[in-house]
Amino acid sequence: MDTTIGYDIEQAALLLEGGDLVAIPTETVYGLAGNALNPSAVLKIFETKRRPSFDPLIVHVASVEAIPDLVLDFPEDAAKLAEAFWPGPLTLLLPRKEIIPDLITSGLDTVAIRIPSHPLASALLSRLPFPLAAPSANLFGQVSPTTARHVQQQLDGLIPYILDGGNCSVGLESTIVGFPENSLPTIYRLGGIPVEEIERVIGQVRVQPHSSSNPLAPGMLKSHYAPRKPLQLLNPEDVKPTDNTSYLRFCNYLDGVDKSHQLILAPDEDLRTAARNLFSYLRMLDDQSTQTIIAEQLPDIGLGKAINDRLKRAAATE
Ligand code: TXA
Ligand code: MG
Repeated sequence: MDTTIGYDIEQAALLLEGGDLVAIPTETVYGLAGNALNPSAVLKIFETKRRPSFDPLIVHVASVEAIPDLVLDFPEDAAKLAEAFWPGPLTLLLPRKEIIPDLITSGLDTVAIRIPSHPLASALLSRLPFPLAAPSANLFGQVSPTTARHVQQQLDGLIPYILDGGNCSVGLESTIVGFPENSLPTIYRLGGIPVEEIERVIGQVRVQPHSSSNPLAPGMLKSHYAPRKPLQLLNPEDVKPTDNTSYLRFCNYLDGVDKSHQLILAPDEDLRTAARNLFSYLRMLDDQSTQTIIAEQLPDIGLGKAINDRLKRAAATE
């Protein structure tokens, strides 16, 4: 199959209506999209990504009007978060209706819903009569794509079309929030909206991200976002010059190492800049002729928490 990269929303829509997959830009990362209500399109997503079928998918919709058809209930805290952060990098876990294929939720009784803010994603979703299931458009376990070119590097020949929406403005996946009974609202994945901002809207939350032993989020395995070479994550004071190593830095160069082997995530010290650069810089360091990557831990506040989480997973070996 030939993979075309282009800007044609109509072509993307026609392919999706025919049950094919299209990579789409969102403000977080590129998604590998298919008709969420068509089980054979959903199956294609799992096959193309080589993703285990126990890892549930996020369903993307154009607007809140589309949601009552998909979920049984919309708790008050969910409504507050939706009001504050949609469209944007927020995913809500809500009790699913029967219309959602089992494959999407891997049998869980909640479905993950998101309204993305990227203008091309919005235009495409508004044009379609169905929602889009879309995991990040990378092969399972690998670094998430933040440009159309990144998608092409992993999925060329596997999908017919990549809708090119430029660089993702957030650069980290959405924050996933659920509302378990008899418990505080819970963040299951740190992401593009910091914990502090969520708490400003609904008060205290529980943060219980990404553990493979967490049955509510079976897909959140430990080793993920992984470059091909070994990556070590260190406290800033423990980072020392080493041969044959590429460095991922927060805001300054490490003395004693060639600058060509270092990338600075945020020269402006803004964690949003660091988030936007994270995945593409990991790819660039992976492509250098060194043997390992050393990343320094970022300040553990705001988006720094989500970035450190991704780096921990990139460093994990199992
Ligand atoms: O920003 C994003 O969320 C991107 C863009 C494309 O929207 N999508 C994304 O999808 O990151 P994916 O498939 O790479 O990650 C979805 C995560 C998985 O870790 C999965 O386990 C979790 O969402 N998830 C989905 N449905 C769930 C559910 N019902 N309960 C718990 N976790 C769920
Ligand atoms: Mg992913």
